[in-house]
Amino acid sequence: MKIGYVQTNPLFGEKDTNFEQVNGLLEGMKADLLVLPELFATGYAFISKTEVESLAEEIDGPTFQFLKKQSQKTEAVLIGGFAERDGDKIYNSAMIVSKNKLIGVYRKIHLYYKEKEWFSPGNKTPEVFNVKGVNIGVMICFDWFFPETIRTLALQGSEIIAHPSNLVLPYCQKAMQTRCLVNRVYAITSNRIGREKRGNDDFIFTGGSQITSYNGEILSSSQNNDINVAFVEIDIEKARDKHLNPYNNIFEDRRPEFYKL
Ligand code: ACM
Repeated sequence: MKIGYVQTNPLFGEKDTNFEQVNGLLEGMKADLLVLPELFATGYAFISKTEVESLAEEIDGPTFQFLKKQSQKTEAVLIGGFAERDGDKIYNSAMIVSKNKLIGVYRKIHLYYKEKEWFSPGNKTPEVFNVKGVNIGVMICFDWFFPETIRTLALQGSEIIAHPSNLVLPYCQKAMQTRCLVNRVYAITSNRIGREKRGNDDFIFTGGSQITSYNGEILSSSQNNDINVAFVEIDIEKARDKHLNPYNNIFEDRRPEFYKL
């Protein structure tokens, strides 16, 4: 199975330019699963609620139309972040698109910094999407900070974690090695690069998109200044077998009766 990420440098508020950047990067590419960054079409550093409202979309909006076309072109399942409008609420979400179909939407449950001013927190348990016979769990950026997120996805059967991101802290890539090892899942962290200096904020996005293996190995890693697409071939069966050795099955060996939740 061929999986990958797209590392981009979105321009704030310039949806068409940002779509064009991804379109160019995916020219001639074929894969099974591709992950794009968080909020890849809008940019990140909102400075007012009005601004978020004007860039947010319904689930069948321009981002869905764009991902649908890219999914047809690449034959891949595509997962990318967008600002989702649902009634009077706006969520920091990611959609999963396969060919002509919207497979599902995940709403970020752990909001970072001023995201709390712009977005409503996700209101559903992170779920697993079965696409092309593979179980895919989705979390967005800062969700990594809470090990419960990936655990919830792994215990529900996720084999690959799609992780659209706009990382500004330097810790995630290393942490994902442990997250993947202790859950025996693959993860695709698709991060952006560049800088957004808006209002009182100055964000420098750390790039370093990464594909992490079920055993904690890094299979692919990008620089912090590259706009690129990277792929690896994985054996999904490895993420289905939760044995560490003949004695230890990391899920069967859990002792929930001793965990204080
Ligand atoms: C983040 O969650 N975008 C830092």
